[in-house]
Amino acid sequence: METLLLSDRCSGDICRAGEILRRGGLVAIPTETVYGLAANALDSDAVKRIYQAKGRPSDNPLIVHISDVSQLAPLVREVSEAAKRLAAAFWPGPLTIILPKSDLVPSATNGGLDTVAVRCPSHPTARAVIDAAGVPLAAPSANLSGKPSPTTFRHVQEDLTGRVDALLDGGDCTVGVESTVLTLAQDVPRILRPGGITLAQLRSVLGEVEVDPAVLHQLGEGKRAASPGMKYKHYSPSADVVILDASPEEYVRYVNQKGDGWALCFEEDVPFLQVPSVAYGSRYDGESQARHLFDALHSLDEVGAKKAYARMPSKRGVGLAVYNRLIRAAAFQVVNPVGCHVIGLTGPTGAGKSTVGDILRKEGCFVIDCDQVTRSPQVYDPPCLQELSEAFGPEIFQDGVLDRGELARRAFASEQARSLLGQITFPRILRRVRELLAEGREKGYRVLVLDAPTLFESGLDSACSRILVVNAPKEERLARVLKRDGISQEAALRRLEAQPSEDFYTSRADWVVENGPGVQTSGALREFLEDLAEEPGSNRL
Ligand code: TXA
Ligand code: MG
Repeated sequence: METLLLSDRCSGDICRAGEILRRGGLVAIPTETVYGLAANALDSDAVKRIYQAKGRPSDNPLIVHISDVSQLAPLVREVSEAAKRLAAAFWPGPLTIILPKSDLVPSATNGGLDTVAVRCPSHPTARAVIDAAGVPLAAPSANLSGKPSPTTFRHVQEDLTGRVDALLDGGDCTVGVESTVLTLAQDVPRILRPGGITLAQLRSVLGEVEVDPAVLHQLGEGKRAASPGMKYKHYSPSADVVILDASPEEYVRYVNQKGDGWALCFEEDVPFLQVPSVAYGSRYDGESQARHLFDALHSLDEVGAKKAYARMPSKRGVGLAVYNRLIRAAAFQVVNPVGCHVIGLTGPTGAGKSTVGDILRKEGCFVIDCDQVTRSPQVYDPPCLQELSEAFGPEIFQDGVLDRGELARRAFASEQARSLLGQITFPRILRRVRELLAEGREKGYRVLVLDAPTLFESGLDSACSRILVVNAPKEERLARVLKRDGISQEAALRRLEAQPSEDFYTSRADWVVENGPGVQTSGALREFLEDLAEEPGSNRL
């Protein structure tokens, strides 16, 4: 079959795409999530061609794409209140809503189910094509079944040239993972597939929202998938992918030592790797990971990688979607190379880290108080004192003893002085913390916690596989600092303001414990401990 190449930069090409679709043809189109292979959703014959072109099992239902919320009503039995609120909040955008279907939707489109999945994409080209076609468009991801979803036009060309009527070039996709699929066809709304719209966003609109167990876990033998797509081996590159659940340092060490595969890593890891690597985004930026994951998987195929070691993404926010795709690419193989977890515990001052640290200690974790390490003689050894004297002047000593007050006054006088102090002390703190971590491991602890106010600034986060952030409202933190440190309101405020923003901490977190007044931290902590108990290597928590 001859495949026409179209571009959304050529006037007239959107109309041509619309005509082909109206006639019952197939056109691959860009959306903000991934490219879709579109056909008239109300034409059974056209829809059947999608399954043929993709090699897709015909019981796997398709998403129906509309360009405006007003086009939803004819497709479903009833537009529920929840659907209206979701559409108002997230459409157009990467959210697919499942509702009981109307008679208008042919069974070829929805795999014979009594529900239909509908989404209103935000990509202007996708919307223009729907309008040009004048019908709703069924569109699965525009890849061959079992291949990673296409996020660039090149991916689409590779998979579908010669198999469909036309391919419409619209550049790279910005979200990079497919839409969040949420069913409203049961009592409690449930995420069947995580995507660009996060669990927290959905909860903010709907209240209670569940996550289907198949999102994170392999379905047991004979279990029926709520979303038929989840039962198929998806997103699989040719390489054997293993996810390493480890800190950045341990990841790099393990991969270098193995030396037999590719690193599917974060950008920050690249300089430390002695094996070839493909990066998928940056460590604390789930959105960049989502945007680059499928392209990275495609690259592994292109270079003919046989084995790849993947960095574990966070499961928070859009990270849940990244993890969901990656764990399928890895056929659920997750390995913890050191058999334990190092959790970084941090957050803004006064949020209550120490309280949480105490609870975790009682729960059987090995907690290292990094503040204490910072003041320890192991850090302030003679060579360190010598360097400090050269940097800040001999006046920081009183009768040969370090005057910490004077050192603090000088070191916190400017940004430059503060960073100089860090340069001298941080490497020593890191060394001492590593010694303590080794001690904890030798004692047989499986969960080690680094309680560190400057976890990120000191670089200690590179020793952590996960980050737990304790946060509290600013007024509450101020009150606590006032009470704890007995300083003036003004000084306390200055201290809070000298710190990074709340967002700096929470955007890097795997878990956030909100520790406000009257809030039961135990619930969030319980969730943290339960999550952790499920991870490989945590058997002795
Ligand atoms: O971002 C996206 O959603 C992309 C772009 C092209 O819009 N489309 C996409 O479609 O990812 P597809 O067909 O690759 O994935 C649709 C998923 C499948 O897992 C399918 O099983 C599920 O949605 N699904 C569709 N209709 C359903 C229904 N009525 N009930 C349960 N699951 C459904
Ligand atoms: Mg797909």
